[in-house]
Amino acid sequence: MSPESQLHRVVLLPGDGIGPEVTAAVKRVFAAAGAPVEWEEHAVGLVALAAGGELLSEETIEAIRRVKVALKGPITTPVGEGHASVNVTLRKRLNLYAAVRPVRSFTGVTTRFEGLDLVIIRENTEGLYSGVENQVTDGVVMSMKVATELACTRISRWAFRFATRRRRRKITVFHKANIMKMSDGLFLRCARKIHQEEYPNIEYQETIIDAGCMKLVQDPTQFDVLLLENLYGDVVSDLCAGQVGGLGVVPGANFGDDLAVFEAVHGSAPDIAGQGLANPLALLMSGVMMLNHLAETRDDPRCRASSDRIKAAYDRALSEGQKTRDLGGTLGTEAFVDALIERMPRV
Ligand code: NAI
Repeated sequence: MSPESQLHRVVLLPGDGIGPEVTAAVKRVFAAAGAPVEWEEHAVGLVALAAGGELLSEETIEAIRRVKVALKGPITTPVGEGHASVNVTLRKRLNLYAAVRPVRSFTGVTTRFEGLDLVIIRENTEGLYSGVENQVTDGVVMSMKVATELACTRISRWAFRFATRRRRRKITVFHKANIMKMSDGLFLRCARKIHQEEYPNIEYQETIIDAGCMKLVQDPTQFDVLLLENLYGDVVSDLCAGQVGGLGVVPGANFGDDLAVFEAVHGSAPDIAGQGLANPLALLMSGVMMLNHLAETRDDPRCRASSDRIKAAYDRALSEGQKTRDLGGTLGTEAFVDALIERMPRV
């Protein structure tokens, strides 16, 4: 077997805004760690549009279907008008129904709570993201919140299986079924059924989302795994990111039945794009999740070894005060990557 054929092909979507900066940083760190990955790069978002292409081409969607694993930078979605979200389209077209976002504290990043370690699991395909919006009459518009038994059951089963495999103790569903009795009511019924019939050993809780948010701010350590429908998962992810230092340190993954797209929780950060200031850690941590996924699904210990080296390097860099500006440090993207690579354990 030639050395090239021993590499795992991964689709890389740099995205736009800070996307190209943080993906370039991840590529450098992966190379330094000897990660057995070869990138197949596809332009998406405003960068693809500026080059005369489409925001999201069929070729890109087909490439992810073929390769099965992708690492994705953020993509801008205009507010209030303009094109539909490429992110939402990608998740729907590829049926990436489960978003997973681990939120944990880091030594060296000072926040109100220490030892925070929770996981957010977000339904990724329906709810208010159904995209069904219309004008009823002048001055009246309607957005449809869609819930199906299939998607609510599928995400619930995914969450309980995840919790069992990762030895998590408790799942809490955030909902608003007191008001949205039908849609959130269905979500709760599906989650309860999966708990009772398939995973009775995992502790199960339900919290109305407004009270849940208050508890998350007062003491997030009382939670373990949070299970939420689409919009709640989006909002609560950023709230939880704020508890561990911000969007620069929260990674994510979107899973379908046999596809996985890894991406940071943050967006394209137009306020700092092109200035070399972005924190590449959230995308790098998403890359670490991707290497662990490759280690498990392709049974390749080299992926785990390189993910361990990267993780050791950023844990050490942060604990020694090497930080980008969003975390209270002074380093730009490149200088932070230099500091991280210097601290990477040798093979
Ligand atoms: P944002 O996450 O891009 O930025 C929010 C704030 O966090 C900004 O002040 C930004 O500078 C800061 N920030 C975010 N990531 C950072 C990083 N890695 N390092 C340092 N600071 C960072 O959210 P915003 O401004 O609401 O959205 C901007 C655009 O991104 C919008 O078009 C939005 O639709 C899109 N977006 C895309 C996502 C994706 O591609 N998955 C996810 C969220 C938003």
